[in-house]
Amino acid sequence: MSAGGGAGLAARPREGSPEAGGFAPSALGTREHWDAVYERELHSFQEYGDTGEIWFGEESMSRLVRWMQEHEIPLGAAVLDIGTGNGVLLVELAKFGFTNITGIDYSPSAIQLSGSIIEKEGLSNINLKVEDFLNLSTELSGFHICIDKGTFDAISLSPDNAVEKRKQYVRSLSRVLKAKGFFLITSCNWTKEELLNEFSEGFVLFEELPTPTFSFGGRSGHSVAALAFQKT
Ligand SMILES: C[S@@+](CC[C@H](N)C(=O)[O-])C[C@H]1O[C@@H](n2cnc3c(N)ncnc32)[C@H](O)[C@@H]1O
Repeated sequence: MSAGGGAGLAARPREGSPEAGGFAPSALGTREHWDAVYERELHSFQEYGDTGEIWFGEESMSRLVRWMQEHEIPLGAAVLDIGTGNGVLLVELAKFGFTNITGIDYSPSAIQLSGSIIEKEGLSNINLKVEDFLNLSTELSGFHICIDKGTFDAISLSPDNAVEKRKQYVRSLSRVLKAKGFFLITSCNWTKEELLNEFSEGFVLFEELPTPTFSFGGRSGHSVAALAFQKT
């Protein structure tokens, strides 16, 4: 298992490119890329038992679980992990005691990998589904908590109409999250202010989650933004 810092997703030159709404388009915004990643990771898991990359590291998962604990989110609350990848966050949530967890990803290999990891952990009761968050099936709705760790970042890098895809993301989120539900996002490509702007319609900032501070060359800041929004 490797703890990714999310550096691979940070593909934006800060001055940005107008056609992608500030991001340099990248293969990281394509399904072909993620299919190839998770086919490779599935093979590594089958061969060596390696669960693969944890985007933004282990701490990013503990931070989310801690937040849910501190805010007394009921263990039976319906939780959706958007773009679950290897599903390791689902495993953490299930181990903590959450009983109504769903992970979706548009890459079938990611869902196959998540299923294998969940099975190896001896966990059941986790719903997994191949699903494109930008083109949802009708069944997905009524979630109390939606979590995104690196998926909005990946979508923002789409070489093909990223601006519209970001808008569709917000529409899909509004659809699956119930009123007063929480959206927890961890991002390395967007600042807090930019995320507030992206999710200004239908969501309000509930809280900023603590993230580690870096200092480099006389500058300091946060390498990721982690925010909790509430649906209005
Ligand atoms: C940077 S990875 C993060 C994976 C996981 N959330 C984690 O923290 O390890 C981005 C994930 O988003 C998924 N993804 C990207 N666009 C998606 C979409 N439109 N619908 C569903 N999943 C998507 C990718 O397949 C990939 O698993």
